[in-house]
Amino acid sequence: MNGAAGARRRVAVLGSTGSVGVQALDLIERLPDRFEVVALAAGTNADLLARQVRRHRPRLAAIADAGRAAGVAAAAREAGCELVTGGQGVLAVAGHPAADVVLAAIVGSAGLGPTWHALRQGKRVALANKESLVMAGALMREALETHGGSLVPVDSEHSALHQCLRGERIEEVQRLILTASGGPFRTTPLDELGAVTPEQAVRHPVWEMGRKISIDSATLMNKGLEVIEAHWLFGLPGERIDVVLHPQSSVHSMVEMADGSVICQIGEPDMRAPIQYALGHPDRFPGPVAPFDFSKARTFEFLPVDRRRFPSLDLAYAALRAGGTAPAVLNAANEVAVQAFLDGRLGFLGIAALVAEVLERHRPGPVGSLEDVITGDRTARREAEEILSMKVVT
Ligand SMILES: NC(=O)c1ccc[n+]([C@@H]2O[C@H](COP(=O)([O-])OP(=O)(O)OC[C@H]3O[C@@H](n4cnc5c(N)ncnc54)[C@H](OP(=O)(O)O)[C@@H]3O)[C@@H](O)[C@H]2O)c1
Repeated sequence: MNGAAGARRRVAVLGSTGSVGVQALDLIERLPDRFEVVALAAGTNADLLARQVRRHRPRLAAIADAGRAAGVAAAAREAGCELVTGGQGVLAVAGHPAADVVLAAIVGSAGLGPTWHALRQGKRVALANKESLVMAGALMREALETHGGSLVPVDSEHSALHQCLRGERIEEVQRLILTASGGPFRTTPLDELGAVTPEQAVRHPVWEMGRKISIDSATLMNKGLEVIEAHWLFGLPGERIDVVLHPQSSVHSMVEMADGSVICQIGEPDMRAPIQYALGHPDRFPGPVAPFDFSKARTFEFLPVDRRRFPSLDLAYAALRAGGTAPAVLNAANEVAVQAFLDGRLGFLGIAALVAEVLERHRPGPVGSLEDVITGDRTARREAEEILSMKVVT
């Protein structure tokens, strides 16, 4: 069924209860001739998963937190859906034999194992979980090449790059240019940044997203992770991947070719568009997202990134240059820092400071296996917690 134009594609959704997962299910429901849900996996939200099971009637549902399975059991029984739990249950969704495409939309490092598993089953993966590429890009590429699967990005920026590069030769590309809205604090006076609250930070000016990625957008670490993601997706070194601020978020990213010509992709900021592109690739067909409305007056601004305001971006470039386990360490330290900020244990400026401190202490090792990545991740989390407890950064 893979690739056949017009065929109905069976989709497994990892992280169905999250922001991307919910939007994907909305899209699938609106395109019943194109897509069908075959399996769903969630972390803890039993209520929502139960509603999704009743509505989409998948063959398999998984909840990572086994203690909450009781909340899904009745819905699964009624829908004739097998219910599995724990990490193994999530892996069963990732590798479901009937899935034509797996949407990897678990947040953070928890998505690493399931994404890796789907690629090792030779699946077509629609990738929202950028952390898997950041942490283990070389291993993901190797799994792709060995097992014959494919990877199409869901992140709107990488979807844009993927679309700009259709029909282009990668050796004729000069630069990839990722656009960033600049988040809620793009113009906040620098001396007020130390006092911003999690509630202010999660209020993204354009996109409505999960809490982790919203904080990452406010620090621009999200863009840093995307630079690393772009490196592994398209094979260009960090020096040829740039970031430019574009507050309107209409141009989702750009590619500069060897002759200086710049190709861009434009669209309304609605995640269902890149999700549709990734699930349906290589087919294009009408969907729920309205075309870009040029009858309204539009302003497109492009501004350089103020590196003092957004130190996290340079930390990500440094981790990419260092290579090996460094990007996994960057990601883990950032996850701890973001959680500490959300919990009120760390100030906003402390996020980049904590990541910098953990990176500073880390001597990157080679990545030969997933175990190396997981060890790097655990060590970084331990270090970050230690630094937090010593209150070296605040
Ligand atoms: N949101 C966006 O617009 C957007 C755009 C581009 C890329 N992304 C990327 O997409 C990914 C998801 O982001 P999001 O904003 O959708 O996050 P989110 O709203 O926080 O949702 C995260 C999802 O992951 C699930 N999950 C967490 N831990 C799990 C585990 N151990 N096993 C199984 N499932 C687990 C959660 O389940 P429970 O809620 O049930 O615990 C939830 O379904 C991230 O990597 C993000 O960077 C998001």
